[in-house]
Amino acid sequence: MLYMFIAILGRQPAIGIAELERVFGDVSWFSDGSAVIRADGLDIQRLGGTVKAGRIVAELPRGDWRQASMKLVQAYAQAWAGHDGKITLGISAYGFDVSPRDVQKTGIILKGKLKDKGVSLRLVPNDDVALGTATSHHNKLGLADNKVELLVVRGRGGKVIIAESTGTQNITALARRDQERPARDAFVGMLPPKLALIMTNIAAAGLPQRSEPYTILDPFCGTGVLLQEAALLGYSVYGTDLSEKMVRYSRDNLNWLQDYTHDKIDWYLHEGDAMNTDWRQPLDAVACETYLGQPFSAPPRPEKLAEVRKNCDWIISEFLKNIGAQLQPGTPLCVAVPAWRDASENVTHLPLISKLEQLGYRQVEFKNVRTPELLYYRPDQVVARELLVLEKI
Ligand SMILES: C[S@@+](CC[C@H](N)C(=O)[O-])C[C@H]1O[C@@H](n2cnc3c(N)ncnc32)[C@H](O)[C@@H]1O
Repeated sequence: MLYMFIAILGRQPAIGIAELERVFGDVSWFSDGSAVIRADGLDIQRLGGTVKAGRIVAELPRGDWRQASMKLVQAYAQAWAGHDGKITLGISAYGFDVSPRDVQKTGIILKGKLKDKGVSLRLVPNDDVALGTATSHHNKLGLADNKVELLVVRGRGGKVIIAESTGTQNITALARRDQERPARDAFVGMLPPKLALIMTNIAAAGLPQRSEPYTILDPFCGTGVLLQEAALLGYSVYGTDLSEKMVRYSRDNLNWLQDYTHDKIDWYLHEGDAMNTDWRQPLDAVACETYLGQPFSAPPRPEKLAEVRKNCDWIISEFLKNIGAQLQPGTPLCVAVPAWRDASENVTHLPLISKLEQLGYRQVEFKNVRTPELLYYRPDQVVARELLVLEKI
Protein backbone atom coordinates (compact mmCIF):
# COMPACT_ATOMS: atom_id res chain seq x y z
CA MET A 1 0.00 0.00 0.00
CA LEU A 2 1.43 3.39 -0.97
CA TYR A 3 1.07 6.52 1.18
CA MET A 4 2.01 10.14 0.67
CA PHE A 5 4.64 11.55 3.02
CA ILE A 6 6.20 14.94 3.45
CA ALA A 7 9.86 15.27 4.38
CA ILE A 8 11.25 18.38 6.05
CA LEU A 9 14.74 18.60 4.63
CA GLY A 10 17.85 19.51 6.59
CA ARG A 11 20.28 22.38 6.16
CA GLN A 12 21.16 21.47 2.57
CA PRO A 13 17.84 20.61 0.91
CA ALA A 14 19.30 19.78 -2.52
CA ILE A 15 21.41 17.01 -1.01
CA GLY A 16 18.49 15.84 1.13
CA ILE A 17 16.16 15.51 -1.85
CA ALA A 18 18.84 13.71 -3.89
CA GLU A 19 19.04 11.13 -1.10
CA LEU A 20 15.23 10.76 -1.03
CA GLU A 21 15.14 10.35 -4.80
CA ARG A 22 17.66 7.52 -4.66
CA VAL A 23 15.87 5.79 -1.77
CA PHE A 24 12.24 6.19 -2.86
CA GLY A 25 12.24 7.17 -6.55
CA ASP A 26 8.86 8.92 -6.50
CA VAL A 27 9.86 12.23 -4.90
CA SER A 28 9.28 15.88 -5.79
CA TRP A 29 9.82 19.31 -4.26
CA PHE A 30 6.91 20.76 -2.31
CA SER A 31 8.55 23.93 -0.95
CA ASP A 32 12.17 25.10 -0.87
CA GLY A 33 12.79 23.02 2.25
CA SER A 34 10.41 20.09 1.84
CA ALA A 35 9.58 17.24 -0.51
CA VAL A 36 6.63 14.93 -1.06
CA ILE A 37 7.20 11.22 -1.38
CA ARG A 38 5.01 8.31 -2.42
CA ALA A 39 6.14 5.20 -0.58
CA ASP A 40 4.88 2.20 1.36
CA GLY A 41 6.72 3.38 4.49
CA LEU A 42 9.38 5.79 5.64
CA ASP A 43 11.89 5.19 8.43
CA ILE A 44 13.47 8.54 9.14
CA GLN A 45 16.33 6.98 11.11
CA ARG A 46 17.67 5.55 7.84
CA LEU A 47 17.96 9.01 6.29
CA GLY A 48 20.65 11.63 6.80
CA GLY A 49 19.15 14.62 5.00
CA THR A 50 15.58 14.64 6.36
CA VAL A 51 14.97 16.10 9.81
CA LYS A 52 11.25 15.37 10.16
CA ALA A 53 8.77 13.36 8.15
CA GLY A 54 5.03 12.86 8.30
CA ARG A 55 2.10 11.07 6.67
CA ILE A 56 -0.02 13.55 4.72
CA VAL A 57 -3.55 13.67 6.14
CA ALA A 58 -5.04 16.77 4.50
CA GLU A 59 -4.37 19.27 1.73
CA LEU A 60 -5.73 22.71 0.86
CA PRO A 61 -5.30 23.82 -2.76
CA ARG A 62 -4.35 27.33 -1.51
CA GLY A 63 -4.27 28.85 1.89
CA ASP A 64 -2.77 31.14 4.52
CA TRP A 65 -2.24 30.31 8.18
CA ARG A 66 -5.78 31.30 9.18
CA GLN A 67 -7.30 28.82 6.73
CA ALA A 68 -4.82 26.08 7.62
CA SER A 69 -5.46 26.67 11.30
CA MET A 70 -9.24 26.44 10.87
CA LYS A 71 -8.92 23.21 8.94
CA LEU A 72 -6.62 21.74 11.57
CA VAL A 73 -8.82 22.70 14.52
CA GLN A 74 -11.96 21.40 12.84
CA ALA A 75 -10.40 18.07 11.81
CA TYR A 76 -8.74 17.27 15.14
CA ALA A 77 -11.55 18.53 17.40
CA GLN A 78 -13.63 15.89 15.62
CA ALA A 79 -11.01 13.13 15.33
CA TRP A 80 -10.04 13.27 19.01
CA ALA A 81 -13.53 13.88 20.42
CA GLY A 82 -13.79 10.51 22.17
CA HIS A 83 -10.09 10.05 22.88
CA ASP A 84 -9.08 8.20 26.04
CA GLY A 85 -6.13 9.60 27.98
CA LYS A 86 -4.00 12.68 27.54
CA ILE A 87 -2.67 13.74 24.16
CA THR A 88 0.61 15.61 23.77
CA LEU A 89 0.53 17.86 20.71
CA GLY A 90 3.14 19.95 18.94
CA ILE A 91 2.37 22.10 15.92
CA SER A 92 5.05 23.13 13.45
CA ALA A 93 4.47 25.61 10.64
CA TYR A 94 6.73 25.85 7.61
CA GLY A 95 6.54 28.49 4.88
CA PHE A 96 3.87 30.71 6.51
CA ASP A 97 4.22 34.36 7.38
CA VAL A 98 3.26 33.89 11.06
CA SER A 99 4.70 34.29 14.55
CA PRO A 100 5.22 31.48 17.08
CA ARG A 101 2.30 32.98 19.04
CA ASP A 102 -0.04 32.54 16.06
CA VAL A 103 0.92 28.89 15.85
CA GLN A 104 0.52 28.44 19.59
CA LYS A 105 -2.91 30.10 19.43
CA THR A 106 -4.14 27.40 17.04
CA GLY A 107 -3.15 24.80 19.62
CA ILE A 108 -4.88 26.72 22.39
CA ILE A 109 -8.14 26.91 20.40
CA LEU A 110 -8.01 23.18 19.73
CA LYS A 111 -7.21 22.51 23.40
CA GLY A 112 -10.30 24.52 24.43
CA LYS A 113 -12.57 22.65 22.04
CA LEU A 114 -11.30 19.28 23.24
CA LYS A 115 -11.61 20.31 26.88
CA ASP A 116 -15.33 20.94 26.28
CA LYS A 117 -15.52 17.31 25.16
CA GLY A 118 -13.62 16.05 28.21
CA VAL A 119 -10.34 15.35 26.36
CA SER A 120 -7.12 16.68 27.83
CA LEU A 121 -4.35 18.02 25.62
CA ARG A 122 -0.83 19.04 26.57
CA LEU A 123 0.58 21.56 24.11
CA VAL A 124 4.30 21.65 23.46
CA PRO A 125 5.21 25.37 23.60
CA ASN A 126 6.30 26.98 20.35
CA ASP A 127 9.56 28.88 20.90
CA ASP A 128 9.60 29.11 17.14
CA VAL A 129 7.00 28.63 14.39
CA ALA A 130 8.35 25.11 13.90
CA LEU A 131 9.43 23.04 16.87
CA GLY A 132 13.16 22.40 16.88
CA THR A 133 14.32 18.87 16.11
CA ALA A 134 15.57 18.52 19.69
CA THR A 135 12.16 19.49 21.16
CA SER A 136 10.27 17.09 18.88
CA HIS A 137 12.73 14.31 19.55
CA HIS A 138 12.79 14.71 23.32
CA ASN A 139 8.98 14.82 23.50
CA LYS A 140 8.94 11.61 21.39
CA LEU A 141 6.46 13.28 19.03
CA GLY A 142 5.26 11.00 16.26
CA LEU A 143 6.35 7.85 18.10
CA ALA A 144 3.06 6.98 19.83
CA ASP A 145 -0.63 7.46 19.10
CA ASN A 146 -0.97 10.05 21.88
CA LYS A 147 2.21 12.01 21.05
CA VAL A 148 1.46 13.93 17.90
CA GLU A 149 3.25 16.58 15.92
CA LEU A 150 1.35 18.23 13.09
CA LEU A 151 3.52 19.49 10.28
CA VAL A 152 1.72 22.27 8.44
CA VAL A 153 3.62 23.20 5.31
CA ARG A 154 2.90 25.86 2.71
CA GLY A 155 4.35 24.98 -0.67
CA ARG A 156 5.25 26.72 -3.87
CA GLY A 157 2.05 28.29 -5.25
CA GLY A 158 0.35 28.46 -1.85
CA LYS A 159 -0.80 24.84 -1.52
CA VAL A 160 -0.96 23.64 2.08
CA ILE A 161 -0.23 20.17 3.44
CA ILE A 162 -1.09 18.96 6.92
CA ALA A 163 0.84 15.86 7.95
CA GLU A 164 1.15 13.78 11.12
CA SER A 165 4.79 13.35 11.98
CA THR A 166 6.11 9.80 11.93
CA GLY A 167 9.25 10.83 13.79
CA THR A 168 12.19 13.17 13.97
CA GLN A 169 15.82 12.49 13.25
CA ASN A 170 17.38 10.97 16.36
CA ILE A 171 19.88 13.71 17.01
CA THR A 172 20.95 12.21 20.34
CA ALA A 173 22.05 8.96 18.71
CA LEU A 174 23.74 10.81 15.84
CA ALA A 175 25.65 13.04 18.25
CA ARG A 176 26.72 10.01 20.29
CA ARG A 177 28.00 8.17 17.26
CA ASP A 178 29.90 11.29 16.32
CA GLN A 179 31.33 12.27 19.71
CA GLU A 180 31.61 9.10 21.78
CA ARG A 181 33.48 6.96 19.27
CA PRO A 182 36.87 6.24 20.82
CA ALA A 183 39.18 6.96 17.87
CA ARG A 184 38.87 10.48 16.54
CA ASP A 185 41.27 12.55 14.52
CA ALA A 186 40.55 16.21 13.91
CA PHE A 187 43.33 16.39 11.32
CA VAL A 188 41.64 14.09 8.80
CA GLY A 189 38.46 16.15 9.22
CA MET A 190 35.86 13.59 10.12
CA LEU A 191 32.76 13.25 8.05
CA PRO A 192 29.49 14.22 9.82
CA PRO A 193 27.45 11.00 10.38
CA LYS A 194 24.42 12.56 8.64
CA LEU A 195 26.47 13.08 5.49
CA ALA A 196 27.83 9.53 5.77
CA LEU A 197 24.23 8.23 5.86
CA ILE A 198 23.30 10.37 2.86
CA MET A 199 26.32 9.17 0.88
CA THR A 200 25.65 5.52 1.70
CA ASN A 201 22.02 5.86 0.62
CA ILE A 202 22.94 7.73 -2.55
CA ALA A 203 25.46 5.03 -3.42
CA ALA A 204 23.62 1.87 -2.51
CA ALA A 205 19.87 2.43 -2.02
CA GLY A 206 19.19 1.78 -5.71
CA LEU A 207 20.60 -1.77 -5.62
CA PRO A 208 17.87 -4.38 -6.10
CA GLN A 209 16.35 -5.76 -2.87
CA ARG A 210 17.82 -9.07 -1.68
CA SER A 211 18.19 -10.84 1.65
CA GLU A 212 21.99 -11.18 1.61
CA PRO A 213 23.75 -7.93 2.54
CA TYR A 214 25.59 -5.99 -0.14
CA THR A 215 29.22 -4.98 0.40
CA ILE A 216 30.02 -1.30 0.37
CA LEU A 217 33.63 -0.14 0.05
CA ASP A 218 35.19 3.03 1.43
CA PRO A 219 38.74 3.17 0.00
CA PHE A 220 39.61 6.36 1.98
CA CYS A 221 38.00 5.13 5.21
CA GLY A 222 39.89 7.35 7.69
CA THR A 223 38.33 6.94 11.12
CA GLY A 224 35.45 4.93 9.65
CA VAL A 225 32.44 7.26 9.93
CA LEU A 226 30.99 6.06 6.64
CA LEU A 227 31.64 2.42 7.51
CA GLN A 228 29.81 2.91 10.81
CA GLU A 229 26.71 4.42 9.22
CA ALA A 230 26.68 1.88 6.37
CA ALA A 231 26.96 -0.98 8.89
CA LEU A 232 23.98 0.43 10.81
CA LEU A 233 22.00 0.41 7.57
CA GLY A 234 22.76 -3.31 7.29
CA TYR A 235 25.58 -3.38 4.73
CA SER A 236 28.75 -5.45 4.96
CA VAL A 237 31.44 -2.83 5.14
CA TYR A 238 34.90 -2.84 3.64
CA GLY A 239 37.41 -0.10 4.40
CA THR A 240 40.92 0.64 3.21
CA ASP A 241 43.20 3.62 3.81
CA LEU A 242 46.77 4.57 3.02
CA SER A 243 47.49 5.08 6.70
CA GLU A 244 47.92 2.12 9.05
CA LYS A 245 46.83 4.39 11.91
CA MET A 246 43.53 5.17 10.19
CA VAL A 247 42.82 1.48 9.57
CA ARG A 248 43.38 0.91 13.30
CA TYR A 249 41.06 3.82 14.15
CA SER A 250 38.32 2.42 11.91
CA ARG A 251 38.70 -0.98 13.61
CA ASP A 252 38.48 0.57 17.10
CA ASN A 253 35.40 2.55 16.13
CA LEU A 254 33.63 -0.43 14.55
CA ASN A 255 34.39 -2.52 17.62
CA TRP A 256 32.94 0.25 19.78
CA LEU A 257 29.84 0.47 17.58
CA GLN A 258 29.32 -3.28 17.81
CA ASP A 259 29.48 -3.15 21.63
CA TYR A 260 27.26 -0.10 21.75
CA THR A 261 24.52 -1.43 19.45
CA HIS A 262 24.90 -5.16 20.27
CA ASP A 263 24.60 -5.73 16.53
CA LYS A 264 26.94 -8.09 14.73
CA ILE A 265 28.79 -5.99 12.19
CA ASP A 266 30.41 -7.63 9.19
CA TRP A 267 33.56 -5.68 8.34
CA TYR A 268 36.84 -6.10 6.54
CA LEU A 269 39.71 -3.61 6.76
CA HIS A 270 43.23 -3.33 5.47
CA GLU A 271 45.87 -0.81 4.53
CA GLY A 272 46.05 0.24 0.89
CA ASP A 273 46.80 3.07 -1.48
CA ALA A 274 43.59 3.74 -3.42
CA MET A 275 45.70 4.48 -6.51
CA ASN A 276 46.93 0.88 -6.81
CA THR A 277 45.17 -1.44 -4.31
CA ASP A 278 43.60 -4.69 -5.52
CA TRP A 279 40.40 -4.98 -3.51
CA ARG A 280 38.67 -8.18 -2.54
CA GLN A 281 35.47 -8.91 -4.45
CA PRO A 282 32.53 -8.43 -4.31
CA LEU A 283 32.36 -4.64 -4.52
CA ASP A 284 28.66 -3.90 -4.79
CA ALA A 285 28.85 -0.14 -4.16
CA VAL A 286 31.51 2.46 -3.34
CA ALA A 287 31.04 5.46 -1.06
CA CYS A 288 33.89 7.59 0.16
CA GLU A 289 35.19 10.95 1.13
CA THR A 290 38.46 11.09 -0.80
CA TYR A 291 41.57 12.99 0.09
CA LEU A 292 40.46 16.65 0.33
CA GLY A 293 43.89 18.29 0.33
CA GLN A 294 45.01 20.54 3.12
CA PRO A 295 42.38 22.35 5.19
CA PHE A 296 42.10 26.14 4.73
CA SER A 297 40.56 28.55 7.20
CA ALA A 298 40.64 31.37 4.59
CA PRO A 299 40.66 31.21 0.78
CA PRO A 300 44.24 30.41 -0.33
CA ARG A 301 46.34 32.40 -2.80
CA PRO A 302 45.65 31.35 -6.43
CA GLU A 303 49.06 29.63 -6.81
CA LYS A 304 48.49 27.63 -3.62
CA LEU A 305 44.98 26.65 -4.70
CA ALA A 306 46.26 25.56 -8.13
CA GLU A 307 48.89 23.34 -6.48
CA VAL A 308 46.47 21.67 -4.04
CA ARG A 309 43.83 21.23 -6.75
CA LYS A 310 46.32 19.59 -9.11
CA ASN A 311 47.49 17.17 -6.44
CA CYS A 312 43.93 16.18 -5.41
CA ASP A 313 42.94 15.82 -9.06
CA TRP A 314 45.85 13.47 -9.69
CA ILE A 315 45.21 11.24 -6.63
CA ILE A 316 41.45 11.00 -7.25
CA SER A 317 41.83 10.42 -11.02
CA GLU A 318 44.33 7.61 -10.38
CA PHE A 319 41.96 6.14 -7.80
CA LEU A 320 39.02 6.25 -10.24
CA LYS A 321 41.13 4.56 -12.95
CA ASN A 322 42.37 1.88 -10.57
CA ILE A 323 39.00 0.99 -9.07
CA GLY A 324 37.21 1.30 -12.43
CA ALA A 325 39.09 -1.74 -13.68
CA GLN A 326 37.80 -3.73 -10.67
CA LEU A 327 34.10 -2.78 -10.79
CA GLN A 328 31.31 -4.48 -12.69
CA PRO A 329 29.48 -2.24 -15.19
CA GLY A 330 26.55 -0.54 -13.43
CA THR A 331 28.25 -0.45 -9.99
CA PRO A 332 27.09 2.71 -8.18
CA LEU A 333 29.50 5.14 -6.50
CA CYS A 334 29.10 8.25 -4.35
CA VAL A 335 32.45 10.00 -4.13
CA ALA A 336 32.93 13.21 -2.12
CA VAL A 337 35.72 15.28 -3.65
CA PRO A 338 36.99 18.73 -2.68
CA ALA A 339 35.73 21.98 -4.22
CA TRP A 340 37.00 25.35 -2.99
CA ARG A 341 34.81 28.34 -2.15
CA ASP A 342 36.09 31.90 -2.22
CA ALA A 343 34.78 34.98 -0.40
CA SER A 344 32.32 35.75 -3.23
CA GLU A 345 30.91 32.21 -3.13
CA ASN A 346 32.58 31.23 -6.42
CA VAL A 347 33.44 27.56 -6.48
CA THR A 348 36.56 26.03 -8.03
CA HIS A 349 35.91 22.41 -9.04
CA LEU A 350 38.32 19.59 -9.79
CA PRO A 351 39.29 19.29 -13.48
CA LEU A 352 38.46 15.56 -13.48
CA ILE A 353 34.73 16.37 -13.23
CA SER A 354 34.70 17.21 -16.93
CA LYS A 355 36.51 13.95 -17.78
CA LEU A 356 34.37 11.39 -15.98
CA GLU A 357 33.29 9.59 -19.16
CA GLN A 358 36.92 9.25 -20.25
CA LEU A 359 37.62 7.76 -16.83
CA GLY A 360 34.88 5.17 -17.43
CA TYR A 361 31.95 6.61 -15.45
CA ARG A 362 28.50 7.97 -16.17
CA GLN A 363 27.38 10.82 -13.92
CA VAL A 364 23.92 9.99 -12.56
CA GLU A 365 21.28 12.64 -13.22
CA PHE A 366 18.56 13.58 -10.74
CA LYS A 367 15.02 14.73 -11.46
CA ASN A 368 14.93 17.35 -8.71
CA VAL A 369 18.49 18.73 -8.56
CA ARG A 370 21.28 19.64 -10.92
CA THR A 371 24.51 17.82 -10.15
CA PRO A 372 26.58 20.95 -9.24
CA GLU A 373 24.07 21.58 -6.41
CA LEU A 374 25.36 18.52 -4.56
CA LEU A 375 27.86 20.59 -2.64
CA TYR A 376 28.09 20.13 1.14
CA TYR A 377 29.63 22.90 3.26
CA ARG A 378 29.10 25.01 6.32
CA PRO A 379 28.82 28.74 5.62
CA ASP A 380 32.36 29.42 6.91
CA GLN A 381 34.05 26.53 5.05
CA VAL A 382 36.54 27.04 2.23
CA VAL A 383 36.85 23.37 1.32
CA ALA A 384 33.43 22.02 0.38
CA ARG A 385 32.66 18.39 -0.37
CA GLU A 386 31.24 17.89 -3.83
CA LEU A 387 29.25 14.69 -4.20
CA LEU A 388 29.90 12.88 -7.47
CA VAL A 389 27.19 10.31 -8.07
CA LEU A 390 28.51 7.87 -10.62
CA GLU A 391 27.89 4.57 -12.27
CA LYS A 392 30.65 2.45 -13.76
CA ILE A 393 30.18 2.20 -17.53
C1 LIG B 1 39.22 13.27 4.27
S1 LIG B 1 39.91 11.87 5.01
C2 LIG B 1 38.55 10.79 5.15
C3 LIG B 1 37.98 10.86 6.53
C4 LIG B 1 36.93 9.83 6.79
N1 LIG B 1 35.77 10.02 5.96
C5 LIG B 1 36.56 9.87 8.26
O1 LIG B 1 35.39 10.06 8.52
O2 LIG B 1 37.40 9.77 9.11
C6 LIG B 1 40.84 11.18 3.73
C7 LIG B 1 41.54 9.90 4.09
O3 LIG B 1 42.20 9.45 2.92
C8 LIG B 1 43.41 8.83 3.27
N2 LIG B 1 44.24 8.88 2.06
C9 LIG B 1 44.94 9.89 1.52
N3 LIG B 1 45.52 9.50 0.37
C10 LIG B 1 45.16 8.21 0.17
C11 LIG B 1 45.42 7.25 -0.83
N4 LIG B 1 46.19 7.54 -1.89
N5 LIG B 1 44.87 6.02 -0.72
C12 LIG B 1 44.08 5.71 0.34
N6 LIG B 1 43.81 6.57 1.33
C13 LIG B 1 44.34 7.81 1.24
C14 LIG B 1 43.91 9.61 4.45
O4 LIG B 1 44.75 8.80 5.26
C15 LIG B 1 42.60 9.97 5.16
O5 LIG B 1 42.30 9.05 6.16
